[in-house]
Amino acid sequence: MTNKLKYFVGNWKMFGDFGSFKIINKINQYISRNKKSKNIKIVLCVPNTLIHFFREKLKTRNILFGAQNCQHYHGYGPFTGSISTLMLKKVGANFVILGHSENRSEGETNKLIKKKIKSALSQKLNIIFCVGETLKQKRANKTFSVIRSQLKGSLENKMNLKKIIFAYEPVWSIGTNKIPKAKELQKIIRFIKKDFRQIFKINKLPLVLYGGSVNSKNISLLASIDEIDGFLIGSASQSSKKFIDIIKNYYK
Ligand code: 13P
Repeated sequence: MTNKLKYFVGNWKMFGDFGSFKIINKINQYISRNKKSKNIKIVLCVPNTLIHFFREKLKTRNILFGAQNCQHYHGYGPFTGSISTLMLKKVGANFVILGHSENRSEGETNKLIKKKIKSALSQKLNIIFCVGETLKQKRANKTFSVIRSQLKGSLENKMNLKKIIFAYEPVWSIGTNKIPKAKELQKIIRFIKKDFRQIFKINKLPLVLYGGSVNSKNISLLASIDEIDGFLIGSASQSSKKFIDIIKNYYK
């Protein structure tokens, strides 16, 4: 069993209302009693409409909050319907997910993601930067080249790269109950760490999370891959029981 800090990040996607605080409350109660809690970092990326409410209502900082996307322009401006990183910071977000495949599939490019990363960094937000290949790209053996182009296309040396945590999320694994084979996954996580270090000439390896159909059953297999620094959990994070069971089983 590891003593390294592990991230359990929930991506609620388009889910939740004020009543969903009961989910947060139960997770908070669990983590307050957990002996391992100093090794566990919980971040919930909830809809923007709930960040301030949850943060104020939760009396502890056992759980940090994040957003799921942002506008690329950092301040206020004529962008109807958009939320900037300045606004996210003001409502209490500490993290923002960027480059999620659900947004890439709506036309978000590496270039646009780069602008969003710069904006998030200007507000000192921590970034969870999603990378990963589609099924078609996987079948064409393009996983590594796709990830490399996502890294090169959205990051720059002069950025404060320490604020970036990667999430490897193979698109074919999201919401499908399919996860990569352990050996394959380990190889890809190692690749992301080493490639990032090499491209951007930094000493420290970055943190890399895994996301895609993580649940309380497959977490034991995922836990065997020590290089994974945590998990980006979609639908299972919308239930306190499922989310807590993932953490419990991780440390079993
Ligand atoms: P699921 O856990 O529902 O497959 O979603 C993963 C995801 O997209 C997290 O960002």
